[in-house]
Amino acid sequence: MRTSSSDCERKHNKGCLMRYRRVPDETVRRMPLYLRGVRILTEQGQNSICSKSLADCLGMSAWQIRKDFSYFGDFGKPGVGYDAATLERRINKILNLGCGHNVVLVGVGNLGSAILSFNGFRQYGFNIIAAFDCDAKKIGKKKGPVVVEDVSRIAKLESKRVGLGIIAVPASAAQGIADALAAIGVKGILNFAPVRISVPKKVRIVTIDIAIELARLPYYMASGQSQGAWE
Ligand code: NAI
Repeated sequence: MRTSSSDCERKHNKGCLMRYRRVPDETVRRMPLYLRGVRILTEQGQNSICSKSLADCLGMSAWQIRKDFSYFGDFGKPGVGYDAATLERRINKILNLGCGHNVVLVGVGNLGSAILSFNGFRQYGFNIIAAFDCDAKKIGKKKGPVVVEDVSRIAKLESKRVGLGIIAVPASAAQGIADALAAIGVKGILNFAPVRISVPKKVRIVTIDIAIELARLPYYMASGQSQGAWE
């Protein structure tokens, strides 16, 4: 029998997360990066990975990696490499990525189209199962893995157990879309609209703003202060 992502989430919450103490957001933010590093090193033929080689691969400090891992319990003996496959499984489990997540995207404009044609989400277990827009010229057209549907059809998705939603509509429409996604049981939203969105307590939201990221770069350029390549 296939395990659904919500079954998986329940097991994850019960068997895994509850053991952890409050983990800093910055640590959580770096964990997918470690997963990428482990995969790169595995592809290079390393079966055993130490924090130093992971740090060199990612351009960060081994101390930081060991500190981040320490929030999640025992990862191995100091000085001895982590078994690569075990490490990958472990990080996947911590991030709750193991069982895969169905994703829907709303707003198939410039950004939404780019997201739909990007293949890199699959490596983390994300499967885009539907995309919605309100523009009649876009509805019914194939974009990447899906055919664009009318936004009014979001409500029909309930039975498909959608875990995550991506919002790529203009700021003025973003709250309404977040409400519609929350109403069908979406538990995580990645929001690209440059606006604060309110969601029910059980929904997690991450907002990404490239303009904000860009706006802090000149500070580092002018001040000469260095910062981590991934911060
Ligand atoms: P766009 O105008 O090319 O696309 C927006 C799409 O949303 C259009 O296809 C439109 O028909 C659709 N739409 C509008 N209202 C809708 C509704 N109520 N329901 C369903 N679909 C609706 O805009 P673009 O450039 O793709 O940007 C999308 C959003 O992402 C904007 O909020 C923009 O500010 C933001 N953005 C964020 C970036 C970031 O780094 N966070 C970078 C670029 C854009």
